[in-house]
Amino acid sequence: MNKLGIYVHIPFCESKCKYCNFISGIFSQDIQKRYVSALIEEIKREKVETKVASIFFGGGTPSILTAEAIGKIMHAIKENFNLAKNAEISIECNPNSVTKEKLKSYISLGFNRISFGVQSLDDEVLMLIGRVHNKAQALQAIKLARSVGFKNINADLLLGIKENKNISNDIMELKTAGVTHISAYMLILEQDTPLFNEAKQNKIKLLSDDESVAQYEKYLKALRQNGFYRYEISNFALKDYKCKHNLNYWECGEYLGFGVSAHSYINGVRYSNTENISEYLKNSKYKNYEKLTKQEKLEELIMLGLRTKRGVSLKKLEGFGYKVLENKNALKMISLGLIKMNNTHLYITSKNFGIANQIILRLVE
Ligand SMILES: C[S@@+](CC[C@H](N)C(=O)[O-])C[C@H]1O[C@@H](n2cnc3c(N)ncnc32)[C@H](O)[C@@H]1O
Ligand code: SF4
Repeated sequence: MNKLGIYVHIPFCESKCKYCNFISGIFSQDIQKRYVSALIEEIKREKVETKVASIFFGGGTPSILTAEAIGKIMHAIKENFNLAKNAEISIECNPNSVTKEKLKSYISLGFNRISFGVQSLDDEVLMLIGRVHNKAQALQAIKLARSVGFKNINADLLLGIKENKNISNDIMELKTAGVTHISAYMLILEQDTPLFNEAKQNKIKLLSDDESVAQYEKYLKALRQNGFYRYEISNFALKDYKCKHNLNYWECGEYLGFGVSAHSYINGVRYSNTENISEYLKNSKYKNYEKLTKQEKLEELIMLGLRTKRGVSLKKLEGFGYKVLENKNALKMISLGLIKMNNTHLYITSKNFGIANQIILRLVE
């Protein structure tokens, strides 16, 4: 049965973190209000009958908006779309922009998953990368979320910044506070961000590539020991807590994205909104369409599917005429133990996730 994911982009933040180049920034209350209205108009214009299996409010920092504004957007979605009974409904939050009241209203609006940008449990690292919260506030926000009824709680972590001697302890503290899912990202030093410039001018010293890989390995071990199962390159979940919304992306499912810079993928057509907030406010109807060729669809299927532990469906590959056992590069990598095949899927063995990009390139050559 077809299922649909809905993504809502909220591009506002209290301050801009030093490493971040997402479409997000600091905007006035007036712009925020106008944005919410434009978003609701855009949602109301879309008509798709498919049942909605997941909704994800991401950013930026959705929790910066008032609970009332989030409620209005949610109301528009519920009025216009057909939500599955067990739909996963997530909201991304910065630990310092949630209060008990806000969290309670998220629960009453139907949110059942919350994601906190924790990044690190080392206050020195948090300062270094320009976060507006500390370790204690992050743990407090997680506990508060759990106390109002959230059972499914994610923490984003950022690795590759500074040596961390307490990895195992950090993971344990997060789990004890209530975290059931961890997204652990290796820092990407984005061109022209303040962190990039500070590193270039030797004002700060980040971990070298080798040190980062060694740190990642330690995280992998600590996550495993604490029961977090790696089901995608950067994502780890306790049993039954995989993120349905992201799994739908990786399985090339259909989704609709609302808001500035949001992408949609429906009936083999991908379309995207402008990345410019003023343009979006002027005309949220404008979309950039791109019909994918058969080869592009196949490449996307392999690229996204192989990011997951389960891998890419052999049936879907065959639908594109791709036969693994007739592909020279695939056979070679199977013989080298880099990829494996079971009855239903082709997958990268976990110890080779680190070279996933090279493997994927070979498969789509
Ligand atoms: C769009 S942010 C949303 C979370 C929320 N705004 C917050 O930061 O609390 C999603 C996640 O992307 C990750 N991220 C952002 N910039 C990154 C970068 N340059 N390299 C690696 N990960 C990054 C961070 O871990 C962040 O929590
Ligand atoms: S990391 Fe999150 S809070 Fe920081 S600037 Fe980016 S979107 Fe905003």
